[in-house]
Amino acid sequence: MTEAAGRDAEHDLESRFEATISRDQRIEPRDWMPEGYRRTLIRQIAQHAHSEIIGMQPEGEWITRAPSLRRKAILFAKVQDEAGHGLYLYSAAETLGIDRAELTERLLEGRQKYSSIFNYPTLSYADVGVIGWFVDGAAICNQVPLCRSSYGPYARAMVRICKEESFHQRQGYELLMTMMRGTDAQREMVQDAVDRWWWPSLMMFGPPDDDSPNSAQSMAWKIKRHSNDELRRRFVDMTVPQAAKLGVTLPDPELRWNEERGHHDFGTPDFSELKEVISGNGPCNTERIERRRAAHEEGAWVRAAASAHAAKQAARAREEAVA
Ligand SMILES: [Fe+2]
Ligand SMILES: [Fe+2]
Repeated sequence: MTEAAGRDAEHDLESRFEATISRDQRIEPRDWMPEGYRRTLIRQIAQHAHSEIIGMQPEGEWITRAPSLRRKAILFAKVQDEAGHGLYLYSAAETLGIDRAELTERLLEGRQKYSSIFNYPTLSYADVGVIGWFVDGAAICNQVPLCRSSYGPYARAMVRICKEESFHQRQGYELLMTMMRGTDAQREMVQDAVDRWWWPSLMMFGPPDDDSPNSAQSMAWKIKRHSNDELRRRFVDMTVPQAAKLGVTLPDPELRWNEERGHHDFGTPDFSELKEVISGNGPCNTERIERRRAAHEEGAWVRAAASAHAAKQAARAREEAVA
Protein backbone atom coordinates (compact mmCIF):
# COMPACT_ATOMS: atom_id res chain seq x y z
CA MET A 1 0.00 0.00 0.00
CA THR A 2 1.34 3.44 -0.88
CA GLU A 3 1.60 6.09 1.76
CA ALA A 4 -1.37 7.99 0.27
CA ALA A 5 -3.53 4.86 0.20
CA GLY A 6 -2.60 4.20 3.83
CA ARG A 7 -3.72 7.70 4.74
CA ASP A 8 -7.01 7.19 2.90
CA ALA A 9 -7.66 3.92 4.72
CA GLU A 10 -6.95 5.57 8.06
CA HIS A 11 -9.23 8.44 7.12
CA ASP A 12 -12.02 5.96 6.26
CA LEU A 13 -11.69 4.24 9.60
CA GLU A 14 -11.78 7.53 11.39
CA SER A 15 -14.94 8.70 9.65
CA ARG A 16 -16.61 5.38 10.35
CA PHE A 17 -15.69 5.80 14.04
CA GLU A 18 -17.06 9.36 14.11
CA ALA A 19 -20.26 8.23 12.40
CA THR A 20 -20.81 5.46 14.96
CA ILE A 21 -20.40 7.97 17.79
CA SER A 22 -22.74 10.50 16.23
CA ARG A 23 -25.44 7.85 15.65
CA ASP A 24 -25.18 7.06 19.38
CA GLN A 25 -24.11 3.53 18.59
CA ARG A 26 -21.49 1.62 20.54
CA ILE A 27 -17.82 1.18 19.81
CA GLU A 28 -16.85 -2.45 20.42
CA PRO A 29 -13.39 -3.96 21.11
CA ARG A 30 -13.06 -5.25 17.51
CA ASP A 31 -13.69 -1.77 16.04
CA TRP A 32 -11.00 0.65 15.01
CA MET A 33 -10.64 3.56 17.43
CA PRO A 34 -8.31 6.55 17.68
CA GLU A 35 -5.38 6.07 20.05
CA GLY A 36 -6.52 8.99 22.20
CA TYR A 37 -9.95 7.41 22.68
CA ARG A 38 -8.35 4.12 23.71
CA ARG A 39 -5.92 5.83 26.09
CA THR A 40 -8.63 7.98 27.67
CA LEU A 41 -10.85 4.95 28.23
CA ILE A 42 -8.04 2.89 29.72
CA ARG A 43 -7.25 5.72 32.12
CA GLN A 44 -10.88 6.27 33.08
CA ILE A 45 -11.89 2.60 33.42
CA ALA A 46 -8.71 1.74 35.32
CA GLN A 47 -9.22 4.67 37.67
CA HIS A 48 -12.77 3.51 38.20
CA ALA A 49 -11.69 -0.12 38.83
CA HIS A 50 -8.98 1.00 41.28
CA SER A 51 -11.58 3.10 43.14
CA GLU A 52 -13.86 0.09 43.60
CA ILE A 53 -11.00 -2.00 44.99
CA ILE A 54 -9.42 0.66 47.21
CA GLY A 55 -12.96 1.68 48.21
CA MET A 56 -13.35 -1.66 49.99
CA GLN A 57 -10.87 -0.55 52.66
CA PRO A 58 -12.53 2.32 54.59
CA GLU A 59 -15.71 0.34 55.20
CA GLY A 60 -14.05 -3.07 55.28
CA GLU A 61 -12.35 -1.97 58.48
CA TRP A 62 -15.75 -2.04 60.19
CA ILE A 63 -16.81 -5.57 59.24
CA THR A 64 -15.35 -7.10 62.39
CA ARG A 65 -16.84 -4.31 64.50
CA ALA A 66 -20.37 -4.26 63.08
CA PRO A 67 -22.95 -3.73 65.86
CA SER A 68 -25.09 -6.77 64.97
CA LEU A 69 -25.09 -9.87 62.81
CA ARG A 70 -27.59 -8.21 60.44
CA ARG A 71 -25.36 -5.14 59.99
CA LYS A 72 -22.34 -7.36 59.47
CA ALA A 73 -24.11 -9.36 56.75
CA ILE A 74 -25.20 -6.17 54.97
CA LEU A 75 -21.76 -4.59 55.14
CA PHE A 76 -20.08 -7.81 54.05
CA ALA A 77 -22.35 -8.03 51.01
CA LYS A 78 -21.70 -4.42 50.11
CA VAL A 79 -17.93 -4.62 50.35
CA GLN A 80 -18.00 -7.85 48.34
CA ASP A 81 -20.06 -6.10 45.64
CA GLU A 82 -17.32 -3.48 45.34
CA ALA A 83 -14.77 -6.24 44.70
CA GLY A 84 -17.07 -7.52 41.95
CA HIS A 85 -17.32 -4.02 40.44
CA GLY A 86 -13.54 -3.83 40.36
CA LEU A 87 -13.39 -7.16 38.53
CA TYR A 88 -15.96 -6.24 35.85
CA LEU A 89 -14.13 -3.00 35.25
CA TYR A 90 -10.67 -4.56 34.99
CA SER A 91 -12.19 -6.98 32.47
CA ALA A 92 -13.68 -4.07 30.52
CA ALA A 93 -10.25 -2.38 30.49
CA GLU A 94 -8.64 -5.61 29.25
CA THR A 95 -10.81 -5.50 26.12
CA LEU A 96 -8.79 -2.39 25.20
CA GLY A 97 -5.61 -4.43 25.06
CA ILE A 98 -4.13 -3.79 28.49
CA ASP A 99 -3.35 -6.41 31.09
CA ARG A 100 -4.85 -6.26 34.57
CA ALA A 101 -1.47 -7.00 36.16
CA GLU A 102 -0.07 -3.94 34.38
CA LEU A 103 -2.93 -1.78 35.72
CA THR A 104 -2.34 -2.99 39.28
CA GLU A 105 1.34 -2.19 38.83
CA ARG A 106 0.46 1.35 37.72
CA LEU A 107 -1.79 1.83 40.75
CA LEU A 108 0.85 0.62 43.19
CA GLU A 109 3.49 2.84 41.61
CA GLY A 110 1.18 5.85 41.85
CA ARG A 111 1.01 6.28 38.07
CA GLN A 112 -2.77 5.79 38.08
CA LYS A 113 -5.26 7.33 40.48
CA TYR A 114 -8.36 6.25 42.34
CA SER A 115 -11.17 8.38 43.72
CA SER A 116 -10.00 11.00 46.24
CA ILE A 117 -12.86 10.10 48.61
CA PHE A 118 -11.27 6.85 49.77
CA ASN A 119 -8.36 8.71 51.34
CA TYR A 120 -10.49 9.84 54.28
CA PRO A 121 -10.72 7.80 57.50
CA THR A 122 -13.88 6.09 58.82
CA LEU A 123 -14.15 7.08 62.48
CA SER A 124 -17.45 5.55 63.58
CA TYR A 125 -20.15 3.15 62.38
CA ALA A 126 -22.18 6.15 61.24
CA ASP A 127 -19.50 6.60 58.56
CA VAL A 128 -20.67 3.33 57.00
CA GLY A 129 -24.14 4.83 56.66
CA VAL A 130 -22.94 8.19 55.38
CA ILE A 131 -20.61 6.57 52.83
CA GLY A 132 -23.55 4.54 51.51
CA TRP A 133 -25.77 7.61 51.35
CA PHE A 134 -23.25 10.17 50.00
CA VAL A 135 -20.46 8.24 48.32
CA ASP A 136 -22.58 5.56 46.67
CA GLY A 137 -25.17 8.28 45.95
CA ALA A 138 -22.52 10.36 44.19
CA ALA A 139 -21.35 7.24 42.38
CA ILE A 140 -24.90 6.72 41.10
CA CYS A 141 -25.08 10.31 39.77
CA ASN A 142 -21.74 9.78 38.03
CA GLN A 143 -22.41 6.30 36.74
CA VAL A 144 -26.02 6.19 35.56
CA PRO A 145 -25.09 8.33 32.51
CA LEU A 146 -22.12 6.01 31.89
CA CYS A 147 -24.61 3.23 31.07
CA ARG A 148 -24.89 5.18 27.78
CA SER A 149 -21.14 5.58 27.35
CA SER A 150 -19.98 5.07 23.76
CA TYR A 151 -17.69 2.14 24.64
CA GLY A 152 -19.80 -1.04 24.75
CA PRO A 153 -18.03 -3.14 27.41
CA TYR A 154 -17.86 -0.15 29.80
CA ALA A 155 -21.50 0.79 29.30
CA ARG A 156 -22.66 -2.79 29.86
CA ALA A 157 -20.56 -3.22 33.02
CA MET A 158 -22.13 -0.01 34.31
CA VAL A 159 -25.69 -1.34 34.07
CA ARG A 160 -25.17 -4.06 36.66
CA ILE A 161 -22.90 -1.88 38.80
CA CYS A 162 -25.56 0.83 39.03
CA LYS A 163 -28.20 -1.63 40.23
CA GLU A 164 -25.88 -2.68 43.04
CA GLU A 165 -24.92 0.91 43.86
CA SER A 166 -28.55 1.72 44.52
CA PHE A 167 -28.70 -1.10 47.07
CA HIS A 168 -25.58 0.42 48.65
CA GLN A 169 -27.14 3.81 48.87
CA ARG A 170 -30.31 2.44 50.44
CA GLN A 171 -28.53 0.33 53.03
CA GLY A 172 -26.58 3.43 54.09
CA TYR A 173 -29.68 5.59 54.34
CA GLU A 174 -31.60 2.90 56.22
CA LEU A 175 -28.73 2.53 58.72
CA LEU A 176 -28.77 6.29 59.31
CA MET A 177 -32.57 6.30 59.70
CA THR A 178 -32.22 3.63 62.38
CA MET A 179 -29.50 5.59 64.18
CA MET A 180 -31.56 8.79 64.03
CA ARG A 181 -34.40 6.96 65.80
CA GLY A 182 -31.93 5.87 68.51
CA THR A 183 -30.18 7.80 71.29
CA ASP A 184 -28.80 11.36 71.33
CA ALA A 185 -25.29 9.91 71.13
CA GLN A 186 -26.25 8.04 67.95
CA ARG A 187 -27.80 11.16 66.40
CA GLU A 188 -24.60 13.05 67.19
CA MET A 189 -22.53 10.34 65.52
CA VAL A 190 -24.63 10.69 62.37
CA GLN A 191 -24.34 14.48 62.30
CA ASP A 192 -20.58 14.29 62.89
CA ALA A 193 -20.18 11.84 60.00
CA VAL A 194 -22.32 14.06 57.74
CA ASP A 195 -20.14 17.07 58.63
CA ARG A 196 -16.95 15.22 57.77
CA TRP A 197 -18.10 13.56 54.51
CA TRP A 198 -20.19 16.27 52.86
CA TRP A 199 -17.43 18.36 51.26
CA PRO A 200 -15.19 15.44 50.26
CA SER A 201 -18.28 13.88 48.62
CA LEU A 202 -18.90 17.03 46.56
CA MET A 203 -15.24 16.85 45.47
CA MET A 204 -15.83 13.36 44.05
CA PHE A 205 -17.24 15.02 40.92
CA GLY A 206 -13.81 16.43 40.18
CA PRO A 207 -12.54 19.96 39.64
CA PRO A 208 -14.89 22.72 38.40
CA ASP A 209 -15.65 22.68 34.68
CA ASP A 210 -13.34 25.57 33.83
CA ASP A 211 -10.45 23.64 35.39
CA SER A 212 -11.15 20.22 33.88
CA PRO A 213 -8.98 20.02 30.75
CA ASN A 214 -9.94 16.52 29.51
CA SER A 215 -13.69 16.90 29.88
CA ALA A 216 -14.50 18.49 26.50
CA GLN A 217 -12.84 15.71 24.50
CA SER A 218 -14.47 13.01 26.66
CA MET A 219 -17.87 14.61 26.09
CA ALA A 220 -17.28 14.82 22.33
CA TRP A 221 -16.42 11.12 22.31
CA LYS A 222 -19.51 10.46 24.46
CA ILE A 223 -17.39 8.68 27.04
CA LYS A 224 -18.67 11.26 29.48
CA ARG A 225 -22.22 12.58 29.17
CA HIS A 226 -22.44 15.46 31.67
CA SER A 227 -19.95 17.96 33.06
CA ASN A 228 -18.53 17.78 36.61
CA ASP A 229 -20.48 20.83 37.80
CA GLU A 230 -23.71 19.56 36.29
CA LEU A 231 -23.37 16.22 38.12
CA ARG A 232 -22.41 17.95 41.36
CA ARG A 233 -25.57 20.08 41.12
CA ARG A 234 -27.68 17.02 40.47
CA PHE A 235 -26.21 15.32 43.57
CA VAL A 236 -26.96 18.33 45.77
CA ASP A 237 -30.54 18.57 44.49
CA MET A 238 -31.07 14.89 45.15
CA THR A 239 -29.49 14.88 48.63
CA VAL A 240 -30.98 17.99 50.27
CA PRO A 241 -34.54 16.61 50.67
CA GLN A 242 -33.10 13.32 51.91
CA ALA A 243 -31.14 15.21 54.59
CA ALA A 244 -34.31 17.01 55.68
CA LYS A 245 -36.20 13.74 55.98
CA LEU A 246 -33.36 12.24 58.00
CA GLY A 247 -33.17 15.28 60.27
CA VAL A 248 -29.51 16.19 59.74
CA THR A 249 -27.96 19.51 58.71
CA LEU A 250 -25.66 19.69 55.70
CA PRO A 251 -22.64 21.79 56.73
CA ASP A 252 -23.00 24.55 54.13
CA PRO A 253 -24.33 27.97 55.20
CA GLU A 254 -24.81 28.97 51.54
CA LEU A 255 -27.10 26.06 50.79
CA ARG A 256 -30.61 27.22 49.79
CA TRP A 257 -33.29 26.56 47.20
CA ASN A 258 -33.16 28.94 44.25
CA GLU A 259 -36.72 29.24 42.95
CA GLU A 260 -35.66 31.01 39.78
CA ARG A 261 -33.11 28.40 38.68
CA GLY A 262 -35.07 25.46 40.03
CA HIS A 263 -31.90 24.19 41.71
CA HIS A 264 -30.12 24.64 45.03
CA ASP A 265 -27.42 27.25 45.45
CA PHE A 266 -24.48 25.90 47.40
CA GLY A 267 -20.96 26.80 48.52
CA THR A 268 -17.76 25.93 46.69
CA PRO A 269 -15.79 22.94 47.94
CA ASP A 270 -12.16 23.60 48.87
CA PHE A 271 -10.60 22.49 45.61
CA SER A 272 -7.08 23.05 46.95
CA GLU A 273 -7.81 20.20 49.38
CA LEU A 274 -8.90 18.05 46.43
CA LYS A 275 -5.59 18.79 44.66
CA GLU A 276 -3.65 17.84 47.78
CA VAL A 277 -5.54 14.57 48.22
CA ILE A 278 -5.19 13.67 44.54
CA SER A 279 -1.47 14.34 44.63
CA GLY A 280 -1.02 11.86 47.47
CA ASN A 281 -1.27 14.05 50.56
CA GLY A 282 -4.70 13.10 51.87
CA PRO A 283 -5.13 11.71 55.39
CA CYS A 284 -4.96 8.02 54.36
CA ASN A 285 -3.25 7.83 50.92
CA THR A 286 -0.13 6.03 52.15
CA GLU A 287 -2.09 3.60 54.29
CA ARG A 288 -4.47 2.71 51.44
CA ILE A 289 -1.72 1.95 48.92
CA GLU A 290 0.34 0.04 51.48
CA ARG A 291 -2.64 -2.11 52.35
CA ARG A 292 -3.30 -2.73 48.66
CA ARG A 293 0.35 -3.66 48.06
CA ALA A 294 0.35 -6.09 51.01
CA ALA A 295 -2.87 -7.71 49.74
CA HIS A 296 -1.33 -8.04 46.28
CA GLU A 297 1.80 -9.67 47.67
CA GLU A 298 -0.18 -11.97 49.94
CA GLY A 299 -2.24 -13.02 46.92
CA ALA A 300 0.78 -13.98 44.80
CA TRP A 301 0.37 -17.70 45.56
CA VAL A 302 -3.28 -17.60 44.44
CA ARG A 303 -2.31 -16.10 41.09
CA ALA A 304 0.53 -18.62 40.71
CA ALA A 305 -1.82 -21.52 41.53
CA ALA A 306 -4.48 -20.26 39.12
CA SER A 307 -2.00 -19.92 36.24
CA ALA A 308 -0.53 -23.38 36.95
CA HIS A 309 -4.04 -24.84 36.92
CA ALA A 310 -4.92 -23.04 33.67
CA ALA A 311 -1.70 -24.30 32.06
CA LYS A 312 -2.47 -27.87 33.14
CA GLN A 313 -5.98 -27.68 31.76
CA ALA A 314 -4.74 -26.28 28.46
CA ALA A 315 -2.16 -29.09 28.20
CA ARG A 316 -4.88 -31.68 28.89
CA ALA A 317 -7.14 -30.16 26.25
CA ARG A 318 -4.28 -30.34 23.74
CA GLU A 319 -3.61 -34.01 24.61
CA GLU A 320 -7.29 -34.86 24.20
CA ALA A 321 -7.40 -33.07 20.85
CA VAL A 322 -4.44 -35.15 19.59
CA ALA A 323 -5.86 -38.47 20.91
FE1 LIG B 1 -19.09 0.09 43.42
FE1 LIG C 1 -21.00 0.96 46.05
